[in-house]
Amino acid sequence: MSCILTCLQFCLGGCNPLSSFSLDSCMPEPVCQSANHTFADFSRILSNATYFGGNASEYDWVINQGNIINTNSSGGELEMLLTQANMGTRLSSTRYVHYGQITTRLKTGRWGGIVTAFITMSDIKDEIDWEFPGDQTTQGQTNFFWQGVIPPTTAGTTIDNLTDTFANYHDYTINWQPDTLTWLIDGSPVRVLTRASVTDNSTGISRYPSTPSRIELSIWPAGINSSAAGTIEWAGGLIDWTNPDYVQNGHFSALVSSVSIQCNDPSPPSTGVTSYVYGKNASAFTPSIAFSNETTINAAFAGMAGTALRAVWAAGAAAALALLGTALV
Ligand SMILES: *[C@@H]1O[C@H](CO)[C@@H](O)[C@H](O)[C@H]1NC(C)=O
Ligand SMILES: *[C@@H]1O[C@H](CO)[C@@H](O)[C@H](O)[C@H]1NC(C)=O
Ligand SMILES: *[C@@H]1O[C@H](CO)[C@@H](O)[C@H](O)[C@H]1NC(C)=O
Ligand SMILES: *[C@@H]1O[C@H](CO)[C@@H](O)[C@H](O)[C@H]1NC(C)=O
Ligand SMILES: *[C@@H]1O[C@H](CO)[C@@H](O)[C@H](O)[C@H]1NC(C)=O
Ligand SMILES: *[C@@H]1O[C@H](CO)[C@@H](O)[C@H](O)[C@H]1NC(C)=O
Ligand SMILES: *[C@@H]1O[C@H](CO)[C@@H](O)[C@H](O)[C@H]1NC(C)=O
Ligand SMILES: *[C@@H]1O[C@H](CO)[C@@H](O)[C@H](O)[C@H]1NC(C)=O
Ligand SMILES: *[C@@H]1O[C@H](CO)[C@@H](O)[C@H](O)[C@H]1NC(C)=O
Repeated sequence: MSCILTCLQFCLGGCNPLSSFSLDSCMPEPVCQSANHTFADFSRILSNATYFGGNASEYDWVINQGNIINTNSSGGELEMLLTQANMGTRLSSTRYVHYGQITTRLKTGRWGGIVTAFITMSDIKDEIDWEFPGDQTTQGQTNFFWQGVIPPTTAGTTIDNLTDTFANYHDYTINWQPDTLTWLIDGSPVRVLTRASVTDNSTGISRYPSTPSRIELSIWPAGINSSAAGTIEWAGGLIDWTNPDYVQNGHFSALVSSVSIQCNDPSPPSTGVTSYVYGKNASAFTPSIAFSNETTINAAFAGMAGTALRAVWAAGAAAALALLGTALV
């Protein structure tokens, strides 16, 4: 693919410590916690990220944009919706990963112009991607970005000949270790990137993702009129809003069955560590990352999230669908 494929526009990061007034002007980032997330209910998902006050013990995920429903077909699946009204859905983990192995079991969309994505994104835009343009349901695409820099030639690769990614669950893994990054499908490595291979030995700059990152799950509309021509082509053309699946269901969607996280911090956190903080550059153009005991909770938000937001889920899938139906009219 010739396109500079990136979801930088859709998959925004959080507070950027490097472009902020001082390195500590962003809240400390909740430290990694190994977990196996499933979605039998949505009690661990905050329905609107705007109201997240930083308590990662309260929520595992926040919704940055869009709508989800629980299809509950095999004990609970997270269905991310894309409609003309919501223009896609994106969830972020509340905790950050600073190296570790993340596996997402998902079914992609199957419609031209619509991209399903499972990525990691840091607050300074280090990014590691699994992306699935909807017109290619036998492909998975890998990519990575360092500090949001779009390279002259894409660093992306395409993995072919998967069994239909819309019809079948596959396990997509990002195994991100300090010196090696491996992408896997169903447990088999399909791409390996070493830190050394992207280190400029004359300047010492390593263009390797190295800052704490949140996990992002999304379905996003790349094939819209306002996208760059190359993006539309990469995504498989403009979205067809008269597609029978869309007309019948009232939405396009992608399904997530589980996300498992195995943290691998370069040194294990001692008791009481709650967060990551950015420090001065450890090496050329790469900030140091330290553990901290500082709270991740923004005092201004204390007591804000809660019953009112949880009530959104209590309304249930049927009601949520009805609401979406209304929104579509
Ligand atoms: C997640 O599941 C795997 C496989 O069953 C297990 O080895 C691991 O301990 C689990 N992790 C957590 C944090 O429960
Ligand atoms: C999904 O199914 C589980 C177990 O059957 C149930 O406890 C849960 O309430 C259901 N979730 C939704 C959103 O219907
Ligand atoms: C964070 O959330 C947990 C779980 O809901 C709760 O027990 C704890 O009191 C909260 N912490 C703060 C500071 O609000
Ligand atoms: C979240 O809340 C903000 C502020 O009320 C609102 O502008 C935004 O549309 C909401 N987002 C979602 C996904 O509902
Ligand atoms: C995928 O399948 C096609 C057709 O069978 C074959 O030509 C091609 O070599 C395969 N590609 C890979 C990467 O296995
Ligand atoms: C930098 O040096 C290492 C170790 O000699 C080597 O493996 C790597 O390929 C070099 N990096 C580049 C971009 O050439
Ligand atoms: C692109 O613009 C045309 C003309 O306004 C409109 O009919 C069509 O729905 C748009 N397509 C997308 C995918 O937004
Ligand atoms: C530290 O690295 C950042 C990120 O690449 C860069 O913007 C900044 O100029 C560097 N600062 C110094 C003092 O080298
Ligand atoms: C956190 O607090 C504990 C107990 O005071 C201390 O032993 C530890 O060194 C602190 N860790 C950090 C990263 O500040």
